[in-house]
Amino acid sequence: MEVSNRYIVINTHIEDAPKESHFELKTESFSLEPGSDAVIVKNLYISIDPYQINRMKSFSSSQKAIGFAVPVTVGEVVDGIAVGKVVASRNPKFEKDDLVVGVFTWAEYSLVKEVNIINKLETSEFPLSYHIGVLGFSGLSAYAGFFEVCKPQKGERIFVSAASGSVGSLVGQYAKHLGCYVVGCAGSQKKVALLKEKLGFNDAFNYKEETDLKSTLKRYFPDGIDIYFDNVGADMLEAAVDNMNAFGRVAICGVMAEYTDSGKRAAPEMLNIVYKRITVRGFLAADFMNVFPDFLSKTLDYLRTGKLRALEDISYGVENIPPAFVGLFNGDNIGKKIVKIADD
Ligand SMILES: NC(=O)c1ccc[n+]([C@@H]2O[C@H](COP(=O)([O-])OP(=O)(O)OC[C@H]3O[C@@H](n4cnc5c(N)ncnc54)[C@H](OP(=O)(O)O)[C@@H]3O)[C@@H](O)[C@H]2O)c1
Repeated sequence: MEVSNRYIVINTHIEDAPKESHFELKTESFSLEPGSDAVIVKNLYISIDPYQINRMKSFSSSQKAIGFAVPVTVGEVVDGIAVGKVVASRNPKFEKDDLVVGVFTWAEYSLVKEVNIINKLETSEFPLSYHIGVLGFSGLSAYAGFFEVCKPQKGERIFVSAASGSVGSLVGQYAKHLGCYVVGCAGSQKKVALLKEKLGFNDAFNYKEETDLKSTLKRYFPDGIDIYFDNVGADMLEAAVDNMNAFGRVAICGVMAEYTDSGKRAAPEMLNIVYKRITVRGFLAADFMNVFPDFLSKTLDYLRTGKLRALEDISYGVENIPPAFVGLFNGDNIGKKIVKIADD
């Protein structure tokens, strides 16, 4: 079987904020070589993730840290997490029509080796797209980052940044179900209203309307912050550290504000960290595959009982991957950003 494929490449390294002009749509055709044990996957839903920007730079300290952070090569298809359907297979473990989630490509079709497939999926009660969002790495990042890294206790005071995003929206909801007091920040009034009215956050604010983040957080947390789940870094991290309570925990999930601006680097007050005995810990969801079964069972239970809302923000068509990706850095998305390529 030969497939005609449209796919996305970067045409240059991207050092600052990504623009659509940094990307190109190309076409090719391919088939399974005799003797190979690869499969051809028709991509259905592609996950659009901020960490990819660090792979697109000519240099980033992240690139040598772990396998999935290796640089993207200019002119070659970008790889990324997706859900797809096997359309042709020379691998005995996979059959035509198997649903799979794994590290595929920003493309209509991917030529996939077994090692790139994370899971074979059964058709489930929830949309397939959930397997790259709430039931995939976004969900695991929120769950492991909150429960394993932050070690929360009922009644603690939690602050979440990028709170209407894929990871942040789930952290806030897990924290509420544990019985914590949760405040989120986000980049628009619409997002703030969603956090308070639909996701059950105790409070929320638009950080773009604030001029002094340290006093903003003092206002929202007069009794201090016990846990800060950081998705953005930079001045928000500095302000949060300033407002942390003794023995507070800061989980560094990501630093959105720093990825596209090399001039922005958080410089938290270290005396606060020492004298308040604050733990600041970076983490990667991939380090927590041991809690995946617990994460899945709790999250499925919450979804079934309507306790958890999975926010999805879906665009359509391979040509819309670049604007979807660029939009992450402009705050265009609400919830998990996904590009749907084909029907299930
Ligand atoms: N450690 C891990 O294993 C792991 C796994 C997944 C994701 N992450 C990290 O978690 C964070 C969230 O990822 P996600 O997939 O859930 O993305 P997301 O939050 O759904 O989307 C990114 C959001 O970041 C906010 N943002 C963009 N530029 C910003 C800036 N300069 N300052 C402050 N906020 C900005 C925007 O919302 P606003 O409108 O609120 O600005 C945007 O919607 C990212 O840092 C990502 O790299 C880490």
